[in-house]
Order: sequence, then C-alpha cells, then structure tokens
Amino acid sequence: MDNDLDLKFLAIGDSGVGKTCLLNRYVEGNFNEKLAPTVGIDIRDKSLSYKSNETNKIFNIHLQLWDTAGQERFRSLTSSFFRDAMGFLLVFDLTSETSFINVRNWITEIQSNAYSENVDMVLVGNKSDLNDQRIISKARALEFAAQYQVDYIETSALNNINVGESVELLLRSVM
Ligand code: GTP
Repeated sequence: MDNDLDLKFLAIGDSGVGKTCLLNRYVEGNFNEKLAPTVGIDIRDKSLSYKSNETNKIFNIHLQLWDTAGQERFRSLTSSFFRDAMGFLLVFDLTSETSFINVRNWITEIQSNAYSENVDMVLVGNKSDLNDQRIISKARALEFAAQYQVDYIETSALNNINVGESVELLLRSVM
C-alpha cells in the first residue's frame, strides 16, 4: 500500500543515560531497573499509525528502533550503523553533566557518519523523575537545542513521562 512506510531511528548517547529503558518503555511498556549495558546494538520494532497534520493522510509506519551501546569500546561499531538512520534520539541524563557535555561529540559523530549532516534529531533529557538530583536545567538544555535547531524534550522512562512523545517529536520532524 502507498501509505506504508519503513523508518529507522537510532537512540544514541553515553552509557547509562537510559536509552534501553526508554525503548523498553516505548515498545514493551515496562521498566526494568537492573539492566546490563547494551553490547553493540539491539533492534526493536513497533508498528503505528501516523496522521499527517498537513494532509490528514494516515500512514502505517513500521518503526525500527536501534538501541546502541553508549560505551566507548563500541563506538566504531555503532557509528557504522548511523548511515541509514532517518532520525536520532540524542539522549542524555539530566543528573549527569558529562552525558550532557558529550552530546556535542555525539552530534559530531552523526555529522560525520549519517547520510546527511541535516538528518533529523531530537534532544532527550532523561530521568526527569530525579528532580532533586538534576544538574542540567531546562533553560540550559533548551539553549543548546536551539543552537543546533533541534527539538528538546524531558522524559522519565521510570515514570513513563513523555516517552511516546519523544518518538513522536522525531517522527514529526522526519515526516
Ligand atoms: P548503555 O546500554 O550502556 O548505553 O546504557 P543505556 O543508555 O541503555 O542505559 P540503561 O537504559 O541501561 O539505564 C541505565 C540506568 O539508568 C539503569 O540503572 C536504569 O534503571 C536507570 N534509568 C533509566 N531510565 C531512568 C529514568 O527515567 N529514571 C531513573 N531514575 N533511572 C533511570
């Protein structure tokens, strides 16, 4: 059917920011606190229908979500998968300065490995439930996102806040 689409999104960001938990929450609807770091890459699938705001057309989307390992030792392996991604969820941890600082490096990786320097990205500040340990303010993240002209959203995989919305934001910018 004409309205069937296959899309591939990648979740990237430092180890421990919560990429696997976000994708588990989105695809399976659950949260598992004790997860081992991802080794290499994991692929998840989700089918959804999407209505275009402009044309009111409804698309049947088959979404492939690639969960990449954040650990340095997998860097060259994971970046080799960047080329055919249509969008990136750039995840950092709101309680970790380092993970936020490193977003810039992840963007550089995208710019040198993705199919286009202008590939769509959404900046995701995860662990919003840990508000008392928050280090990165919303204003600071928004300023950074504006510099790179990407959308910004704060999520909690633990409390299921804005998880679907983060994927939807990326979907809207890709479509
Ligand atoms: P790598 O696979 O090594 O790249 O890590 P990752 O980014 O996939 O992180 P993962 O999803 O494995 O989560 C790391 C830790 O953060 C785990 O202990 C989770 O329980 C915790 N975590 C993930 N999301 C949240 C969240 O929204 N809130 C809180 N409080 N903890 C979270």
